[in-house]
Amino acid sequence: MDTRVEVKPEAALTEDEWRQIGQAVKAADWRRGGPPGPTYAYAPMRWRVLLFVGGELAAHVGIDEREVTVGGRPVRVGTVGGVSTVPAWQGRGLATLALDTALAFIRNELGAPFGFLTCRDHLVPFYARRGWRLLLVPVRFAQPATGCVELARPYEAMVSPCGNAAWPEGDVDLRGLLV
Ligand SMILES: CC(C)(COP(=O)(O)OP(=O)(O)OC[C@H]1O[C@@H](n2cnc3c(N)ncnc32)[C@H](O)[C@@H]1OP(=O)(O)O)[C@@H](O)C(=O)NCCC(=O)NCCS
Repeated sequence: MDTRVEVKPEAALTEDEWRQIGQAVKAADWRRGGPPGPTYAYAPMRWRVLLFVGGELAAHVGIDEREVTVGGRPVRVGTVGGVSTVPAWQGRGLATLALDTALAFIRNELGAPFGFLTCRDHLVPFYARRGWRLLLVPVRFAQPATGCVELARPYEAMVSPCGNAAWPEGDVDLRGLLV
């Protein structure tokens, strides 16, 4: 497999890369694995992991960073979203490679101690097998129409340490839109 992976800031994406990201995210079947949950407004992502096979985008992960609070105390996290592999390339470890690349970027370039993501509950085992930990505490975030909302099934929040720090105890406030 002729594979190339890179992390680019959104401002550096070419028109063709935007087109390929749009296609990849649309083609990955997000409905698989249970009934749909509520539709939320998600925060924009400032960096993109682009994984090309033979010059075509095969997998994508978005990255951003923010300061959340846990138990009322600030914690910096690198956020991960839009994890997608186009169907023809699924099951070959590409999302795993793109996620590893995202976490390395969060650790080395952003200097954040944790990765943070939300996902539908059927994907919890997938992330758990890759070292992510399920948060069993209330997670709050903001939505334009309704204000402060608590994350509820079928959505879950997970974290991955980038170093030795342990995720603190306490309720999580994302202090912004959902990631
Ligand atoms: C989930 C997804 C990103 C995995 O991509 P991939 O490149 O096939 O992943 P990998 O080859 O690295 O890993 C395959 C693993 O994904 C798991 N997986 C794939 N689709 C899954 C699904 N719908 N539900 C649960 N697990 C799934 C496989 O069981 C396999 O698990 P294992 O290797 O731990 O045994 C891909 O199926 C996809 O794009 N799905 C639609 C979009 C989506 O739901 N993204 C997640 C957003 S949080």
